[in-house]
Amino acid sequence: MDRLDKILCSQTTLTRTEAGRLIKIGRVTVDGKVCKQASTKWDPAAHEIVVDGKRLGYAQNVYWMLNKPAGILCVSRDPKQPTVVDLLPEEARRKGLFPAGRLDKDTHGLVLITDDGAFAHAMLSPRHHIPKTYRAVLDKPLSDEAADAFRAGPTLEDGTECLPAEVTVLEEGDTPLVEVVIYEGKFHQIKRMFAAVGCHVVWLKRIAMGGLVLDEQLAEGESRPLTEDEKYSILNEKH
Ligand code: URA
Repeated sequence: MDRLDKILCSQTTLTRTEAGRLIKIGRVTVDGKVCKQASTKWDPAAHEIVVDGKRLGYAQNVYWMLNKPAGILCVSRDPKQPTVVDLLPEEARRKGLFPAGRLDKDTHGLVLITDDGAFAHAMLSPRHHIPKTYRAVLDKPLSDEAADAFRAGPTLEDGTECLPAEVTVLEEGDTPLVEVVIYEGKFHQIKRMFAAVGCHVVWLKRIAMGGLVLDEQLAEGESRPLTEDEKYSILNEKH
């Protein structure tokens, strides 16, 4: 049970003051009756709350998948630059959204945006070793020794030891395309791991986090809510 004004602002982009005003002037009904008391308590899962004739969808938490383009900051808010949360459609925006796990500004691909702090914390916890899969284009061919060092778990230039990672060359050539799976999430990890074996990453895209795979139908900058199956798989993976 929660106060009516609190329910409204948790499920919309309204501030508490705006929600209170709408309630006071009679634009909110509960189970078909106008309710002008912002302080009355309701269970939003059990009562039909309607604002200006539109039924309030009720979800405890939201989970969106975004195909992040390069050039966008992977944070909730920034005073000067667009962020991944700004790319969500209007109806998805609500308070408390943040990206679960960072990508660099110049990295593309899968970002999970949620307001479920406990879930994000569990998913990102180093203890859970959720695999993250990336595609990278390198500035030079990957030697066998470099690939072996990568698989053994490279030591970064500052001495940080990494867990063993998987690397597969998908397209050979002067600037090969490789797929990498890592089981941790250190700062700039992929770029630093390749730097440690003498390669520079010229393009980077995340394509999966655990069982959650970037939807190929999403163009860069597009997003969609996770399906029930996706939610189930990723929510259960954290344990
Ligand atoms: N590793 C990186 O170097 N950059 C990212 O954005 C993600 C992983």
